[in-house]
Amino acid sequence: MTVTAGFALLLTVGVLMMEQMPLSAEVIRSLQPYDIRVLHAIERLMRRFEWVPLEELKAATRFSESELNYRIGRVMERDLVRYAKVPYEGYALVFNGFDSLALRSLSGKGTVRALGDRIGEGKESVVYEGLGLAPVAIKLHHVGQRSFQSVRLNRDYLPERTHCDWLYASRLSAQSEYEALTNLSPAVSVPAPIAIDRHAVVMDLIGGTTLNRCRLDDPDPVFDRILENVRAAYRHGAIHNDLSEYNVMIDEDRVVLIDWPQWITPDHPNALVILTRDLFNIVTFFARKYRVVRDLDEAVESVLR
Ligand SMILES: Nc1ncnc2c1ncn2[C@@H]1O[C@H](COP(=O)(O)OP(=O)(O)OP(=O)(O)O)[C@@H](O)[C@H]1O
Ligand SMILES: [Mg+2]
Repeated sequence: MTVTAGFALLLTVGVLMMEQMPLSAEVIRSLQPYDIRVLHAIERLMRRFEWVPLEELKAATRFSESELNYRIGRVMERDLVRYAKVPYEGYALVFNGFDSLALRSLSGKGTVRALGDRIGEGKESVVYEGLGLAPVAIKLHHVGQRSFQSVRLNRDYLPERTHCDWLYASRLSAQSEYEALTNLSPAVSVPAPIAIDRHAVVMDLIGGTTLNRCRLDDPDPVFDRILENVRAAYRHGAIHNDLSEYNVMIDEDRVVLIDWPQWITPDHPNALVILTRDLFNIVTFFARKYRVVRDLDEAVESVLR
């Protein structure tokens, strides 16, 4: 792993919401306390405003107009904040700004002392490796506006809310994943949770790679271990709800189930359908890639028993 002291490496943060300049470690380090104060104020006010009016920002920061304009210039030039003229004039954080606040905060607490390479990017997250007391993975949840409709349909942790923005949804997604990891670790083989800050979950770094990307010499016991962990998770009150070869990591002999934000409890009205779909994905994958034929109903039954 290549991790240097401080936020020394360049990061590139993928963005669902809109095109953004890559966020760099340099940018995070270059932020001054007054810049951070502006970012914090916008973050807080975004609970009430989609676009935070200048007057509100002035009241919240207690900066003079010239100081405030100077600070807004700095954070906008770093692509952490956007300005809109319509529907009304105001400022809003973009993912780069939200990521900066979370990473600064984690670094301030000593949870993440160095940030390394980007190791994963999914539909709704960006994952970095980092260094805390030990090697860690930092998953920044990016639940964007565009994907939001479909997210609402299949993610139960989102309560009914008309003004449910990406910032709120990303935070909830992180909380949900952190809760699952906390409930399940260490009884179930999942990454041990270390910390949460805003939309960022810090967890143990798992070695190896995902199941879809490796070639198993002996697939049978791996299937069994996945099934054992699905069963253990069920007993500890969780059904994954997005289980597939993409969300199982293989680290030598270890099998680790990752990516838990959409988990549900066994008393969910669709629990059986969801559990069956999770296991269907795994059964199908092993049959297709390894000609390991397992009975789906039997697998489901063995979890429920
Ligand atoms: N704890 C970890 N240790 C090592 N690598 C990880 C860890 N967590 C995630 N990764 C890597 O990051 C990738 C993406 O992570 P994950 O599957 O959790 O999110 P995702 O697929 O973006 O989520 P979504 O399903 O919302 O798109 C994984 O495929 C894996 O390569
Ligand atoms: Mg995934």
